[in-house]
Amino acid sequence: MNRFDDQTVLVTGGSGGQGSSHVRAFHAEGANVVIGGIDAERGAALADELGTRAHAIRLDVTDESSWSAAVLAAESTFGALDVLVNNAGVQNPPALIEDTDRATWSRILDVNLTGTLLGIKAAIPALRRAAGGAIVNIASTMGVGGTARYAPYVASKWAVRGLTRTAALELGRDQIRVNTIHPGVIATPFIHEPAAGATAAIADDYSPEPFAVPRLGEPIDVTRLLLFLASSDASFITGSEYVIDGGLLLGPALQAETA
Ligand SMILES: NC(=O)c1ccc[n+]([C@@H]2O[C@H](COP(=O)([O-])OP(=O)(O)OC[C@H]3O[C@@H](n4cnc5c(N)ncnc54)[C@H](O)[C@@H]3O)[C@@H](O)[C@H]2O)c1
Repeated sequence: MNRFDDQTVLVTGGSGGQGSSHVRAFHAEGANVVIGGIDAERGAALADELGTRAHAIRLDVTDESSWSAAVLAAESTFGALDVLVNNAGVQNPPALIEDTDRATWSRILDVNLTGTLLGIKAAIPALRRAAGGAIVNIASTMGVGGTARYAPYVASKWAVRGLTRTAALELGRDQIRVNTIHPGVIATPFIHEPAAGATAAIADDYSPEPFAVPRLGEPIDVTRLLLFLASSDASFITGSEYVIDGGLLLGPALQAETA
């Protein structure tokens, strides 16, 4: 008996760095997986590799009709939707607020915040039909503090927290739990490849050395927490936020004495 037998999970950005780790793990634990994302070819390749119980669909999280199609695909292919993971996200090219253009601001808010809202909205009727379920929104440690040169991204991830808490209040009576995960710096293309319009990648300027767990996070670190929150083991947890960052938000750790 697996944790997600007979359940269907939709992961946005499901063929990306963390998304593909989530999809593989849900699938390995028995779930039917719907891989949603803008890179339809990469999603289809992952679905082919997984074989049975996997379905890929092109999903642009900013587009309401695209969401309807993805939820319909989950229900028509697998009979229900039980878990939604709002994982898709984009970062802005680093820029001070005074240099942040309106188009960049709107693009980041559109994907990270409005995309999450539209996902919750589209999933609610299906989760109700399934007699309950779980939504997990992927925010960021940048949604807990401030980070110079990342105002659009920081603001979008802060806002996801408010959305999560409100959704948890509205959906509790329907047995739908809604939680947020705040990953720290995780080794994916997100930090290794420059954001659209940027020349340098986050990893170029970042070292985990000063922190309590001095390594980059791996997608599987986030996946393990996500599977817990999506599972019935977390049935009393809703509207909560979980930081998974190796101690990044704590600040520099005590360093070993050098002789
Ligand atoms: N990697 C990190 O250090 C880190 C830290 C904190 C939070 N996060 C968050 O984790 C999530 C996953 O990021 P990742 O690290 O896997 O990066 P990634 O760039 O590998 O994956 C992001 C995915 O989102 C998809 N996407 C972008 N715009 C989309 C849209 N409009 N519709 C559907 N899909 C879209 C991309 O195609 C990609 O598959 C994101 O929400 C990101 O903000 C990442």
